[in-house]
Order: sequence, then C-alpha cells, then structure tokens
Amino acid sequence: MQKREQWGSKIGFIMAAAGSAVGLGNIWKFPFTAGQNGGGAFVFIYLIFIVLVGFSVMLTEFALGRRRQLAAVGAFKSEDRRWTFVGIVGVLCGFLIMGFYPVVGGWALAYIFKVVAGLLNNPETIGSSFDAFITNPGIPIIWMIIYLVINIAIVSRGISSGIERAGKILMPLLLIILIGIAVKGLTLPNSFEGVKFLFKPDFSAVDGKVVLAALGQAFFSLSLGMGCMITYGSYLSKEENLVGNTGFITAMDTVVALLAGLAMFPAMFSFGIEPTAGPGLVFVVVPILFAEMGGAGNTLATLFFIALTVAALTSSVSLLEVVVAYFIDEREFSRKKATVTASTIMAILCIFSSLSFGGIGPKLFGKGAFDIFDLLTDKIFLAIGGMMICLFAGWKIGKEELLKEITNEGTLSYSFLNIWFFLIKYIVPVTVAIVAVNGILDGFHTGAGPIMLIGIAIIAVFSAISKKL
Ligand code: PHE
Repeated sequence: MQKREQWGSKIGFIMAAAGSAVGLGNIWKFPFTAGQNGGGAFVFIYLIFIVLVGFSVMLTEFALGRRRQLAAVGAFKSEDRRWTFVGIVGVLCGFLIMGFYPVVGGWALAYIFKVVAGLLNNPETIGSSFDAFITNPGIPIIWMIIYLVINIAIVSRGISSGIERAGKILMPLLLIILIGIAVKGLTLPNSFEGVKFLFKPDFSAVDGKVVLAALGQAFFSLSLGMGCMITYGSYLSKEENLVGNTGFITAMDTVVALLAGLAMFPAMFSFGIEPTAGPGLVFVVVPILFAEMGGAGNTLATLFFIALTVAALTSSVSLLEVVVAYFIDEREFSRKKATVTASTIMAILCIFSSLSFGGIGPKLFGKGAFDIFDLLTDKIFLAIGGMMICLFAGWKIGKEELLKEITNEGTLSYSFLNIWFFLIKYIVPVTVAIVAVNGILDGFHTGAGPIMLIGIAIIAVFSAISKKL
C-alpha cells in the first residue's frame, strides 16, 4: 500500500488546521451573525459552546482521523458500514458549503481590486455600491470562478506543498492587520458602545434561534461536524500531541473571531451603521473606516482584503480537500481528476447562490440558494454531524481506544480526559439535540424551519441507506 501523505512539519499542520478554522466564518460571518442575534448574549453562548462542545469535538475528530489514517468516509466505514453515512453527509456538507463560500471569497478578491482602483474612496456610496455589486448577475460570478481556480491550483498539488505553504506565510499577516483595525476602530468617538454591544449580554432577547445560531457558528468557525478535521488528522503523524494542537487551534480561532468583532462593532457604532446590517457588514464597514482615514487608509484596506481572501482560501481548500479525499480514497480518482470534478459541481452551486442575491433563480419557502445552503449546513448538517461523530466515538469506538490515540499509546497523560469523554458520550449529543429541536421550532416563524427539517430528512435518508454506501 502507498504510504499516506503526511504534513511536512509540525508547524505546517497547526497552520493548516488553524487556517481551515480561521476564515470567512470568523471575519465575515461571526460579526454579522452576532449583530443579527442581539450581540453580547449571542457571543456569550457562542463562547460557552466553543469551550464545552467545540474543543471536545475537535479533539475527537483528530483522534478518529489519525487512528485509522483515513479521511472522513473511510474513518467510519473501516469501523462499521452502518456509520458510513456520517462521513457521506460530511462530504455532502462540503459540497454545500462550497456552494456559497466561494461566492463570498470572490467578493473578498474583488474588493482587493476595488480598493486598489480607488473605487471605494467615497464613504457615502460604499454601502450602495456593495449592494449593486452582489446583485449583479455576471460580475460576482466571474470573481467566484477566479477564486475557485486558485483553490483548484492549491488542492491539486496535494497536502504538504500546497495547503501548508499558503497557511504558514499568510496567517500571521492576518492577525496583525486585524489588531491594527481594531485599535483604529476603538479610537473613534462613541466606539465604546460597540464594545458594550459585543460583550454585554442581554439575555431577554435569547430564543431557540439565537442558541442554534451560536451552536452552528461554533461548529462552522472551528470547521467541525463534517469530517474536515478528521481528514486533516488523518495526515498527522503519530508523534504529534493532539490535545495541545486542539487547544491552540481553538484558542486562535476564537481570538480571531473576537478581534473581528472588535474591528467591526466599535466603528459601526461610531458611524451609526445598524448591527443587523447582514452579510454586507465587513464589505461596508471596513472600506468606510479606511476611506474616512484617507492617505494610508487605502494601503491598509488593500492589505485587509488580501488577508481576508487568504483566510478564506486556507478554509475553502480544506473544504475542497474533504470532497477530494473522498474521491481519491473511496472512488480511486487521481488527485487532479478529483479536484476538477468536485470544483465543477461547486461552481454550478455557487452560480445559483450568487444569482440569488439579485432575486434570480429558484426559491424554497421564500429563501434563495445562498440562504438554503447556509441554513442546511451551518444550522443542521454541522451540528447533527458533530453529534453523530460524538456518538460514534463515545459509543462505538469507546474510551479505551480513543485514549490510546490521544495519549500517544500512554506516553502522555491528562487528567481532564475523563471529563472530555463524558462530554462527548452524553453531554454534546443531548445538547445538540435540544438546541436543534428548539431552533427548528423557532425557525417556523420564518421559512427557515421547513428547510432545516428537510436537512434532517436528508440525514435520515442517508442513514437508512448507509450500509450500501
Ligand atoms: N471554519 C471555516 C471558516 O471559519 C469554514 C469551514 C467550515 C471550513 C467547515 C471547513 C469546514 O471560515
């Protein structure tokens, strides 16, 4: 048998896994989702989920991946065919996230050029030009395709040379730029209102939808619940310390999300922009902030959108990799063929997503393609997937086997591993179930409820036919 590709170096793996976690989820999605869900209380619940659910699930995914050295589908199938569907739903989820992620990645790429070309120098028109841009039926699609082609170029070269190098160079740059923007935002008049909005919880507005949004955001942001970290773990050497890596990646991801919040909200409150502004938030607030600065603002804005694009890239390559690894491991495709096949399907999904901003294309319960893919993945597939992963690990693989993997055959020891196992065996599955049911019920006030139910139905169908997969 061919020896499995491995990460070139320890730092390479951490950077790639942190690169997967840190992406549009932190910088684009977290701020606007927090804004739409009331701010402080959402952030508070999100942080609790990161610590109790996110950390535990990530450690589980790394252990499952490295244990069998097989990617998402293989890690389940090699154990028991009845569990194959968890991996398959993960691959499907990879397709669906990649059915909208590159659209936003394309926006970020386009904004590099818009800033450089001086198109975003007038703060008055930045908001309306964003709307005009994303509702255009042609131009954002071209940017999305360019963005996808960059993904193909990275993933078709294979794990260590492509993904690793991109992550290693560009992650630190992102962190520095975000800190700079946050500091700048905090010096503006009235900015403290933004800090209060972000960190002062008001639990009166919390309902099932808010809690599910926080749980979904935790899974999405940490790249959990769809086998991505299982796949990355499968390339990890047996000497690595799983607990340390998990802790570092979780912490890094959370710091970037909070920094993005700090970069956005103080400035918004200072400019009088509504926190509920939605998906346009980063693309409107950041350019206004820099346009107001004049002078060096342009250079800084350029750097910001470069960093945003790179953060998006190191995440979307990991999504693409889950699907590609499936085609390579389970369908015996060459890496190149797998990459091109997967991205062609993703490009088609993205065209529907992009068009839905202009109101073009099919709708379901009043929602367009972009919203449907987002709802299905972030609210349903990831959370339920994470729950299944925990059930599989806790009940099927069992404590002894998992501990052997996590402690590197007993050479490491951690006292909290008993708590961790209790969490993944009982607490995480029960929590996800309760949060999902409440979130879906609340979702029936909008079209979101029925779409989330369809997501559950898809998972049920896959689990029913799983033995044949
Ligand atoms: N975590 C990534 C982000 O925050 C998105 C992602 C989700 C990547 C699931 C892989 C798997 O942007």
